[in-house]
Amino acid sequence: MPQDDRLVMTGLRKEDEDLDASLRPRHLREYIGQEKVKSSLQIYISAALKRHDALDHILLYGPPGLGKTTLACIVAAEMGQNIRVTSGPAIERPGDLASILTNLNQGDILFIDEIHRLSRAVEEVLYPAMEDYALDIMIGKGPTARSMRLDLPKFTLVGATTRAGRLSAPLRDRFGIVFRLEMYTPEELSRIVGRSASILGMPYDEGGIMEIARRSRGTPRIANRLLKRVRDFAQVRADGRITAEVARDSLNMQDVDVLGLDRIDRAVLTAMIDKFSGGPVGLDTLAAVTGEDAVTIEDVYEPYLMQLGFIMRTPRGRVCTPLAYQHLGRIPPADLQAVTEAAEQTSLLDGDDL
Ligand code: ADE
Repeated sequence: MPQDDRLVMTGLRKEDEDLDASLRPRHLREYIGQEKVKSSLQIYISAALKRHDALDHILLYGPPGLGKTTLACIVAAEMGQNIRVTSGPAIERPGDLASILTNLNQGDILFIDEIHRLSRAVEEVLYPAMEDYALDIMIGKGPTARSMRLDLPKFTLVGATTRAGRLSAPLRDRFGIVFRLEMYTPEELSRIVGRSASILGMPYDEGGIMEIARRSRGTPRIANRLLKRVRDFAQVRADGRITAEVARDSLNMQDVDVLGLDRIDRAVLTAMIDKFSGGPVGLDTLAAVTGEDAVTIEDVYEPYLMQLGFIMRTPRGRVCTPLAYQHLGRIPPADLQAVTEAAEQTSLLDGDDL
């Protein structure tokens, strides 16, 4: 199944855009979860406002769908500044970035999503811009070419990435503030679903929003998407109220199980168990047998399966844990615990940790 068709995929879909716009919290006080990030941000923002200064550059990293764009917009709102939103792949040439930078005003927030995808040549333009608020441009060509330095307004770069490990060291080092966004707990997600349901005028029970929260893979974007699907079901098959039963029936029907795993997650786990005795399996092999690409497996499926403790990364590949067997109703082989423990001791650091 292509990524775009999955109800529980974490990437932004067209239908999410309108939904996101109406449901997106605009201020820090409305933002649920990420408590450590919020309390630090609150301090940095208050201090910058007191000094009448721009905020330091901020790097946000973590799995997709956790609210990196939302946080960037909140930072702009709390600072009372405008935000310019773009992304790594959209900035193709150094000139594209130069034009964005020269159009910024003092204090503006520049948000670059997927910042790990900037080309090296574009990054080179970013370094002096971040460090000295300066743009170095070349005038002329060949032996008579000379470089000229233009002053830029003092702006704040908010960079977002799912892959902090892919960022070059010089770029990473130029961010004064670095936050890792964590997956949300079911309790936090149920508050987010409750807030969204209220904004959209949907009646609900606590049990109903909790059922959606538990199946949302720790991700608000998925929670809001599932809420919409459950609303349709509630309106057609019930009296419109989102109860635990309505949520359960609706999501079961859509193959989203009690932990939010869908057919592809189960296919990944089943392939590991049936074809490789639980692992270790290399990422590329796993991609080949499931028909998904390696980057998608690494960025989208693995973070949640690892969060659940269903798979582990080891130097020799991915390993399924007994929890995964139990979830699929399988009996783990007798030596699996030993394999898992051995793998645990040699477990690689998560490549996305700084
Ligand atoms: N909608 C999406 N993410 C949210 C969050 N973290 N808090 C409140 N509402 C949200």
